[in-house]
Amino acid sequence: MDANHEMGVIGLGVMGRGLLMNMADHGHPVAGFDKDPDKTDALKGLAEGKPVRGAKGLEELVSLLRRPRAVLMLVPAGRVVDSAIEELLPLLEEGDIVIDAGNSHFKDTDRRAGALSGKGFHYLGVGVSGGEQGARHGASIMPGGPREAYDRVERILVDVAAKVDGEPCVTLLGHGSAGHYVKMVHNGIEYGLMQLIAETYDLMKRGLGISNEELREIYGRWNQGELGGFLVEITSRIFGRRDEKTGRPLIDQILDAARQKGTGMWTSQDAMDLQLPVPTIDVAVAMRNLSAMKELREKADRTLEGPRRALSTDRGVFVDRLARALYAAMILTYAQGMSQLARASEARKYHLRLEDVARIWQGGCIIRAELLKEIRAAFRRTPDLASLLLDDRLGGAVAERQADLRFVIATGIEQGIPVPGLTASLAYYDGLRSGWLPANLIQAQRDFFGAHTYERIDEAGTFHTKWQET
Ligand code: 6PG
Repeated sequence: MDANHEMGVIGLGVMGRGLLMNMADHGHPVAGFDKDPDKTDALKGLAEGKPVRGAKGLEELVSLLRRPRAVLMLVPAGRVVDSAIEELLPLLEEGDIVIDAGNSHFKDTDRRAGALSGKGFHYLGVGVSGGEQGARHGASIMPGGPREAYDRVERILVDVAAKVDGEPCVTLLGHGSAGHYVKMVHNGIEYGLMQLIAETYDLMKRGLGISNEELREIYGRWNQGELGGFLVEITSRIFGRRDEKTGRPLIDQILDAARQKGTGMWTSQDAMDLQLPVPTIDVAVAMRNLSAMKELREKADRTLEGPRRALSTDRGVFVDRLARALYAAMILTYAQGMSQLARASEARKYHLRLEDVARIWQGGCIIRAELLKEIRAAFRRTPDLASLLLDDRLGGAVAERQADLRFVIATGIEQGIPVPGLTASLAYYDGLRSGWLPANLIQAQRDFFGAHTYERIDEAGTFHTKWQET
């Protein structure tokens, strides 16, 4: 009876409920279950007139689904996912599909996919970006797993995805953990972009004494041009918001200690494992960690001296140059993330098509931005582009703005305002365009103290010198 629901959703928090309602809006019959009965009950009020059923338990949920069954979990990453799977499996049959749409670590996804396929079930690891609004009205969806399972749920995922120029922001990215890997790197880029924007705020606030109202206007203006994108847009809106409690600008009532769930850190960690540099993302994670050391920072603020110089530059000119610097640093951040995806795809045989990744990030997700159109076009021109910076247009855009980037970094350094995201981005650029780097010295030092050997420029093989002898 009633075993005609297209999808079962476990976990009815903001994301789970939003996705479920989004599916129902498109006419898909869906059933939902949450361990908290109040959340399941709340569906009744929300879903009037829509093909939505709340289930009292997993058994009932599964009994409502058409075969092969598709069950989508939106529960907190980590052990909760494992226990949800454990409870679910005895109720399912071979060929049924389990979907994890949370921010799971890609290694967990590989482990779970392996275990489930061994038992005859399909597993899809699906990255979903866009927060509450995205889940409810159109998200960027990054699925990975077996084609057969994807085909079964493709219609629903296409319907709940954001659309850009009529194209849905979803496609099967690859097997196994490909989807969760792409989502992880999305978040790494998100961390990088947020840090860069925060540095521009700092330079304008502490450097130039620009007011919140002016900041709202500046970021609003930036959002209309090449910097246009979700993060710049919300930054402008944040500066316009007043605190209900005090009537003051809300931004000034918010503690300057950033929290994190860890996905940016995972991106950095795996980049290290792959030996692939993502310095802007590394620094973004480090600065969140430094921001969290509020007490120590306040103590050091009272004792450690820094420069005291007023910024002597013209405000309007500085703000315009800052915008150009931010655009260059953003390109450099996406370039690092895309290189990480390329390296991971090779190492883990995901067979990612980076043009597809850029395409599905154009709408719905947190890092959606005008720039992604250019990035997509670059990968369309050259699918195996070794670095976004080797694309004439994007590399050229950074080259044209490098003087601005150097100028605002130098200003931050002179003023004692930390600009590590901008600096790391520029160092990545300068490092990449250095056909020669001083790593010959590092080779020599390693060989000197550890006999680790080195390679020569004029002969193949490895060499060792008895450095202590003369
Ligand atoms: C998204 C976001 C989301 C992320 C949180 C915060 O794409 O919708 O990236 O998935 O979990 O917004 O992440 P942190 O707590 O790590 O900052």
